[in-house]
Amino acid sequence: MSNPPDYKRLTEHLGEPRFVPLPGYTRRPEADMLARAESFYAEMNCRRTTRHFATDPVPRRLIELAMLTAGTAPSGAHRQPWRFVAVDDQAIKVKLRAAAEEEELKTYAERLTDEWREALHPLGTDHIKEHMTDAPWLVVLFAEKFGVRPDGSHRKNYYVDESVGIAAGLFITAIHHMGLVTLPHTPNPMGFLRETLGRGTNEKPVIVFPVGYPAANARVPDIARFSGAQFIQWNVASPA
Ligand SMILES: Cc1cc2nc3c(=O)[nH]c(=O)nc-3n(C[C@H](O)[C@H](O)[C@H](O)COP(=O)(O)O)c2cc1C
Repeated sequence: MSNPPDYKRLTEHLGEPRFVPLPGYTRRPEADMLARAESFYAEMNCRRTTRHFATDPVPRRLIELAMLTAGTAPSGAHRQPWRFVAVDDQAIKVKLRAAAEEEELKTYAERLTDEWREALHPLGTDHIKEHMTDAPWLVVLFAEKFGVRPDGSHRKNYYVDESVGIAAGLFITAIHHMGLVTLPHTPNPMGFLRETLGRGTNEKPVIVFPVGYPAANARVPDIARFSGAQFIQWNVASPA
């Protein structure tokens, strides 16, 4: 065998990486996969973002399971740069809502461009954020931009936005699958989330997820999803 390329020597001092057999994998018959895929797509295609939540309580374990599911996301260099803060303390929710509404009022009144305002119009949103105090849980997702070692030095994370985005998707999927609803809420700017929840400056707030049951009169905007043909292509390459 030829000598390993030079770059392998750069990590020789770290020893050999360790491997274990791929856990929990079962190869399924194609018909079985198709049935599962069809049924999962149908289930996910029923997911909608509603902004109307019931105040009924939701057990903490369900929220924990959604966060644990999010934590199964792949991440750049396995840095797992997501941090979830779950809040069901009404006093904290009230504080978060007040701060969000203060920012959102400025956003809707002064910060939105005409183009952005037009894009939001079909959703019927405004600066009032009842969901932040109606929903029994607010789950705030932070991105750890870099780690901090015990000696205070910084440890770089990789592909943070991509990794946290994938975790957010898994969280939303888990919530939908268990029969609850959520809304990815991105109040802008979001610095108040870090301050109110006492997070470090190495963490960037990304999304607030109110989670709960839909209100009895919950509605959703009358909007449609792309058909597959609008966003899927097969075997497209530029001519050589
Ligand atoms: C990154 C992101 C940010 C969003 N921010 C907000 C928000 O601040 N307020 C809001 O009411 N909805 C927000 N949404 C929800 C979208 O408006 C909603 O997902 C979209 O209209 C499609 O509707 P659907 O989720 O029912 O398919 C956000 C969604 C995403 C993915």
